[in-house]
Amino acid sequence: MSKQDQGSTPSPEKANEDQGFAMQDIRSSKNLAAFTEVVESRRSVRKFTDTPIPDDVLEDCLRLAMLAPNSSNLQPWEFYVIETPDKRSKANKICMNQNAARTANKLIAVVARTDTWRDHAKQNISDFPDGKAPKKVRDYYEKIVPLDFLRGPAGVISVAKWGMTKAVRQFKGPIKTPCYTYDDIKNWAMYNTALAAENLILAIRAHGFDSCAMGGFDEPALKKLLKLSDHHHVVMMIAAGERAERGIYHSQFRFDYDKFVKRV
Ligand SMILES: Cc1cc2nc3c(=O)[nH]c(=O)nc-3n(C[C@H](O)[C@H](O)[C@H](O)COP(=O)(O)O)c2cc1C
Repeated sequence: MSKQDQGSTPSPEKANEDQGFAMQDIRSSKNLAAFTEVVESRRSVRKFTDTPIPDDVLEDCLRLAMLAPNSSNLQPWEFYVIETPDKRSKANKICMNQNAARTANKLIAVVARTDTWRDHAKQNISDFPDGKAPKKVRDYYEKIVPLDFLRGPAGVISVAKWGMTKAVRQFKGPIKTPCYTYDDIKNWAMYNTALAAENLILAIRAHGFDSCAMGGFDEPALKKLLKLSDHHHVVMMIAAGERAERGIYHSQFRFDYDKFVKRV
């Protein structure tokens, strides 16, 4: 697939291809085995070899990251591949000089943005595949989506939304909880972006490389280094490279399944 094809205006042929792909029964022992192997062999690796991740591999991993499901296709994410030697050595330090950061071939900041929803709503209309966006789609992105995010001066819209949702809930039934505060929007952007981060981690593993997600970094320092605004939030850093000997510190373990799964 060319780089253009990965863009946001798929051709009708691409749409048909997607449709056919979605209709196919992808259940097969081969697919399941491959997926299981990727998930089960992924570990947080803290020491990498000097082997580089080829650029085309990294690009494919980032492409797969961006195929993550996301609310209303608003894609609130960004990925900063920290490459320049000066920035990289500063970033290592900002990641507390953790082994994973220091030895990684690639260091990526996965960033959530709270200020792109409006442009991305418009772009969902302009880039709609298969011709002009239907009225339902336009109404959704022009009316419903702004209602979800807008807060108004001094939160006046939020207060109105709060009253309105409370009334609808009481008299009509369930209504989607909108964003009332900036933190609601931040949470929204961060959980969407975290899904892309997981896709990225699994894609790196599927390509035969490894990674370590890192929350251990100084966010203000990183934002300064990357010249990010108040509307950018670093969800996690991802160190990636080829697993070195003794790059995994101990066996993987999780608590009991029953502790977490509730059948209700
Ligand atoms: C959001 C997040 C933040 C993490 N932060 C760090 C970190 O700063 N340093 C580190 O060595 N590992 C970090 N990890 C890796 C976890 O410690 C690791 O995923 C966990 O212990 C389970 O081990 P496993 O990934 O090998 O299954 C982080 C993982 C996640 C998902």
